[in-house]
Amino acid sequence: MSTKILDHGRIERNVTLLLVLSLITVAIGGIVEIAPLFWIDSTVEKVKGVRPYTPLELAGRNIYIREGCYNCHSQMIRPFRDEVERYGHYSLAAESMYDHPFQWGSKRTGPDLARVGGRYSDEWHVQHLADPQSVVPESIMPGYAFLKERPLKADDLGKHLVALRRVGVPYADEDVKQATKDALAQADPTADAGSLATRYPKVQVRDFDGNPSQVTEMDALVAYLQMLGTLVDTRAAEPMEQPR
Ligand code: HEC
Repeated sequence: MSTKILDHGRIERNVTLLLVLSLITVAIGGIVEIAPLFWIDSTVEKVKGVRPYTPLELAGRNIYIREGCYNCHSQMIRPFRDEVERYGHYSLAAESMYDHPFQWGSKRTGPDLARVGGRYSDEWHVQHLADPQSVVPESIMPGYAFLKERPLKADDLGKHLVALRRVGVPYADEDVKQATKDALAQADPTADAGSLATRYPKVQVRDFDGNPSQVTEMDALVAYLQMLGTLVDTRAAEPMEQPR
């Protein structure tokens, strides 16, 4: 028998030794993957512009999840050339730091939506959501016309904010108290939006669904789609990321 430190013949013939050494090897891999999560606050680099969702955007996000849009759409632009050229700057970790649950993924029956905000008009979105084939004839996306008829349930949005606050989203007491009013005001340009814009920078206030007589689920969903990817100025971050 050789006296090498790593005598593989011996390891392979001794089941207990093989098991113990396998476990140690797997544990090292596990620690490397898991340990960064203990320091998640410093792992996720802070990025200027990222803020929690407004109550209306959040309501839209809840509808997005309820309707299963994530089954066909991801919100994660990967740092590959083909994706960056098609969808824009790759997604930054901080951009989804307030997402519970996150919308990452690579299952794309439809395009990635991480930066769809501002790419189309509100009218386009309303038309497309109601009847996708009327704007993209070859689309296989189902229609969601009923969202235009359903009034938005906004009275419980404060509770949604409280729930998110419990998992670390920094909503202030004022945000929770004003949640319902904020949601309705964001979809109604004639309402007094109060301090909405100071508490939620870059908030877009307007009638999203083209029907000023009521705030519908369509308003909320379009408000959400129109803010996706608009908070961070990725052009300002660009120069640092060019390879030298
Ligand atoms: C069965 C799969 C499927 C589901 C479910 C689905 N979509 Fe789509 N979606 C697509 C496909 C395919 C396209 C590309 C063709 C088109 O524009 O209609 C698309 C396109 C889009 C676009 C345009 C994106 C772009 O960059 O051009 C938006 C916005 C969108 N979907 C939003 C939604 C929302 C919101 C929901 C949920 C209410 C949803 N989709 C549900 C398949 C789906």
